[in-house]
Amino acid sequence: MRVDVIDGLFEDMARQRAFVATRCPPYERLLGLLPDALPLERLARAWQGRRFGGHYERPLLLLACLRDDALEEGPTHPLHALVGPAADPEAASLPRVREALDADRPVWQKLARRHVQTNETGRAVAWLWPAHLLGHRLTEPLSLVDVGASAGLNLVADELPRIWSREGGGALAVDPLPPLGQRTGFDLRPLDVADDLDARWLRACVWPGQTERLDRLERAIAAWRASDPRPELRGTAGWSLGRIGGSEALEALQAAAAREADPEALAMIRAALHALEGVEGARQDGSDAAAAHEETSGGGVR
Ligand SMILES: C[S@@+](CC[C@H](N)C(=O)[O-])C[C@H]1O[C@@H](n2cnc3c(N)ncnc32)[C@H](O)[C@@H]1O
Repeated sequence: MRVDVIDGLFEDMARQRAFVATRCPPYERLLGLLPDALPLERLARAWQGRRFGGHYERPLLLLACLRDDALEEGPTHPLHALVGPAADPEAASLPRVREALDADRPVWQKLARRHVQTNETGRAVAWLWPAHLLGHRLTEPLSLVDVGASAGLNLVADELPRIWSREGGGALAVDPLPPLGQRTGFDLRPLDVADDLDARWLRACVWPGQTERLDRLERAIAAWRASDPRPELRGTAGWSLGRIGGSEALEALQAAAAREADPEALAMIRAALHALEGVEGARQDGSDAAAAHEETSGGGVR
């Protein structure tokens, strides 16, 4: 069966294969095998209702979803040696590609809902350099607004290493920078690097073997997470709930402790929980003791 959403897919894959031949050998091998491995009807169902733009969009989505599965599962994934950290083109084989596309693998949900979003903080020179050149004229902190910000990583590029050079050689200076004010990002499909799944998806969108680019991404994720006020807010909110007390606050803290990933926020939530469990436990003991007293002393309504 051929439906619109996969029409011309093999031509797009062949075009992308030629493009990556020297740039990313693991993807060149994978794109060579995919036409014999892809269950097209299942793919058409996964992509039902989706629209794709450039010729590279569908092939890159397929590749990134398979890489995300390999990063998620680790060395037991059939394509881990090919598209994981080892990026070994010799690890490509048709049975492994077919196995990686088994119906029960998460790749199919990812194909349905994910969008390829390359984040490249090297592009931040577009604001860092003008900010450096014009900053001394500013009378107020400089606010940053990024349209198409994806995960917003370019908005924290002032925290990242300076990697730019002049055409004739020598570093391109972007320091000193003026004081920075608000940082705002807009995106049709924003990603949240505080979320481990979104952060892994950003890694999956970097091609296997592009270690410098991955390193830039990791530094940017770390810088963004370090500047994210939300874990502190969550920790403080936990502390406040502990002070407010009561069984509902206790339940909310228990739920928050179960899902919190940030270690410092978790420590604050646990401390509040611990203190509140003591108070609620003592209250419960008190009412149990009162009830027992009622019972042994004849209790009931007087
Ligand atoms: C290639 S990514 C670039 C991300 C980041 N600015 C960078 O340079 O690394 C392009 C981003 O633009 C977003 N985008 C595309 N069209 C948009 C629109 N009309 N309004 C807002 N965001 C859009 C996409 O969702 C995607 O995250």
